[in-house]
Amino acid sequence: MEKYLVETNNLTKSFGKFTAVKDINLKIKKGVIYGFLGPNGAGKSTTIRMLLGLVNPTKGKVKVFGKSINKNRIDILKNVGSIVESPSYYGNLTAYENLYITKEILNVKKEDLKKALEIVGLSEEKNKKVKKFSLGMKQRLAIAQAILGNPELLILDEPTNGLDPSGIREIRFLIKNLTKKLGMTVLISSHILSEIELIASEVGIINKGKLVFQGTIDELHKNSVEQIKVNVKPKEQALKYFNSKGYKVDIRNEYIYLKNCLDPSSITRELVMNDLDVYHISRYKSNLEEMFLSFTKKEGTNDINTF
Ligand SMILES: Nc1ncnc2c1ncn2[C@@H]1O[C@H](COP(=O)(O)OP(=O)(O)OP(=O)(O)O)[C@@H](O)[C@H]1O
Ligand SMILES: [Mg+2]
Repeated sequence: MEKYLVETNNLTKSFGKFTAVKDINLKIKKGVIYGFLGPNGAGKSTTIRMLLGLVNPTKGKVKVFGKSINKNRIDILKNVGSIVESPSYYGNLTAYENLYITKEILNVKKEDLKKALEIVGLSEEKNKKVKKFSLGMKQRLAIAQAILGNPELLILDEPTNGLDPSGIREIRFLIKNLTKKLGMTVLISSHILSEIELIASEVGIINKGKLVFQGTIDELHKNSVEQIKVNVKPKEQALKYFNSKGYKVDIRNEYIYLKNCLDPSSITRELVMNDLDVYHISRYKSNLEEMFLSFTKKEGTNDINTF
């Protein structure tokens, strides 16, 4: 048994002189929901297209189910459901008819079609024309299409794009259920951390084509560096003092955050002895959103797990 259902080795894609994806080593275990996170233009879709063999890498390898995608594409894709780019439907046909076409192509049973409609919650609307569907319903239909062949792996490129909060929530529950009930492994991309945090157990963060973090959500939390948060006056004088002591500082609103100083009591003493007034002092750990931003803001970082 292969340890990873999806594994890439120095996966790279260049468009002319521009490198959109650089030396990516994704490792996705069986049965997980893997969140592939990154801001717009980070390289998520390009990576996903290479995973599906839709685009050839400039360099590097993709293995799915332990097999190379370029040698076993048809075989592999029989067992992979995906939504990439905007899904295509026949608007004049009903949900059932659209799925029927996919069913014929995949050569699966009618029972599977019914089951897919049930799973995505479209059984009651199956005879409605798709052009009358809301965006959320269309996304659910796309997921039904993707899971119709009961694939082992589901790859969803920003499936909640454009949905309202309740639509996002519905899709989230749906995806969670797919892993729970059907044992599917899911790769889901997004540029919104809070969305991924609620659904994924593992995450890969991509920025400017490089994978800047890969691990569990817990590991991401552990990366949070403890800081000291102070409100001290006069602020300018305090900043001069911190600078002279070599403390790394971050300033947000009225607070100064000290990164390489871990003891609030000694820092309080130091400040008071230097005629500075301390209005607030506490320990502080950055939240996931702040970490994501710091990962994706940093220029020229290619080390995994640093920030
Ligand atoms: N066919 C192409 N030719 C040239 N450049 C491309 C091509 N496809 C993608 N790119 C560039 O590669 C970079 C990564 O694009 P990609 O679509 O993979 O990003 P993304 O992370 O999916 O972004 P988004 O969140 O906006 O969907 C972008 O700068 C994009 O302009
Ligand atoms: Mg994209």
